[in-house]
Amino acid sequence: MNFRRLRKNAAIRSLVAETEISAADIIAPYFVREGRGVARAIDSMPGVSQFSADRVVEDMAPMVAKGLKSVLLFGVPNEKDPGGRSSIGPLVPDAIQKIRSAYPNMVIMTDVCLCGYTSHGQCAPLDARGKIDEPAALERYAEMAVVHARAGADVVAPSGMMDGAVEAIRKALDGSGNLETAIMGYSAKYASHFYGPFRDAAESAPKHGDRTSYQMDPPNRLEALREIEQDIAEGADIVMIKPALSYLDIIRDARENFTHPIAAYSVSGEYSMIEGAIERGWMSENVRWELLRSIKRAGADLIITYHAKHFFDQLPAAR
Ligand code: PBG
Repeated sequence: MNFRRLRKNAAIRSLVAETEISAADIIAPYFVREGRGVARAIDSMPGVSQFSADRVVEDMAPMVAKGLKSVLLFGVPNEKDPGGRSSIGPLVPDAIQKIRSAYPNMVIMTDVCLCGYTSHGQCAPLDARGKIDEPAALERYAEMAVVHARAGADVVAPSGMMDGAVEAIRKALDGSGNLETAIMGYSAKYASHFYGPFRDAAESAPKHGDRTSYQMDPPNRLEALREIEQDIAEGADIVMIKPALSYLDIIRDARENFTHPIAAYSVSGEYSMIEGAIERGWMSENVRWELLRSIKRAGADLIITYHAKHFFDQLPAAR
């Protein structure tokens, strides 16, 4: 065997390429705002905006034409309070319905977490001593999941990393007759600095403290397997690793140990550092594909990526 022969030209290379990303692997995230005709660029994420639901539908159109199958919605409400009341308001349900009527077959996934809805920016309500109130969080997540399911969400994704969230949500979904609504568990979610730009985008930065009490410690590898195991036991249908880029080993571990579909979330910081460098001419645009392929090669079935638009732009129109 001669490697140079196999790499000789693009045609041979593509014939023997082991990793390819297809349209159905990509999940496009959206930050949904109230109102109509709203588009607000996010400074820390060049090329990404918060949109009102009508603008989400519009923005998706070219991607749908090229084969986009799935979106993940984050609500960015105008009103926040300590309990995150607006998390069960009409913001996300309206968006689900608008997307559903424009694209009936779209797989609509929704974020189920409170950090975008609470005035203090934590993923849970706080108790009288100002500590994370887990039982209250589980109740709120369950309610939120049912509201989204009733509006037509196909998959709900609890990103708050509270123990027992998947189980509480499954119970509530089943109890309300939403047996078909699937759960994507943010099973292995690390307390990462790569989330910085997202907290701008979702306006969800914690006002005090951080999320290290409920997100995983980056040096830990085996803990991720235990977290995934637990989410599966609680009823997760898809398991997720997050972030992707600095955690490719965890994606690979998950692939080798579980048979569930694996999603990887290529988070805001991965996006912004690459787009920032491309903008300045420090790296070639092709680095985007190197990033996405590495995630796929590590073993992910699905990739949540802000690069969705770039990905679909370079695909030929469907024949
Ligand atoms: C929190 C949540 C986070 C992201 C999605 N949901 C991170 C966090 O602030 O802890 C991050 C996604 C990204 O960085 O793109 N519930």
